Amino acid sequence: MPIMEWDDTLDVGVQAMNDEHKRILDLMNQINDAHEDGLTGGLVIALVNQLGQVTLDHFRDEEAYMARTGYAGLASHALIHKDLLAKYTAYADDTRRNDGRLPEKFLMFLKLWLTAHIRGIDMKYGPKGEALRQAG
Ligand SMILES: [Fe+2]
Ligand SMILES: [Fe+2]
Repeated sequence: MPIMEWDDTLDVGVQAMNDEHKRILDLMNQINDAHEDGLTGGLVIALVNQLGQVTLDHFRDEEAYMARTGYAGLASHALIHKDLLAKYTAYADDTRRNDGRLPEKFLMFLKLWLTAHIRGIDMKYGPKGEALRQAG
């Protein structure tokens, strides 16, 4: 079962960022499927590595977008990315050390990251952000 399907509540209003979020979502769902199917080993590790790389690229692209548009929240957003990446890297290391067995907490982390980060903080840098910021 997928962790989450794409829907309008994840739309940040920036096509390139939506596309990258969809790619992240797709990889998260593949990792979750692999976990539910009881898969381990190289296939799972490859998926985890791939999601790590896609995430790294995405954070870089998102920060470049925020810099380009002069978004005031860039510094704090970038710090949150750094923290997420550090957590991701630690879980990925655990998975590699355990021959592709995914820690349960890793799946929880992926799910929370999606709901909280994209719907919460990512939403603020796009065109919807101005209204959100005005609403406090
Ligand atoms: Fe972000
Ligand atoms: Fe994002």
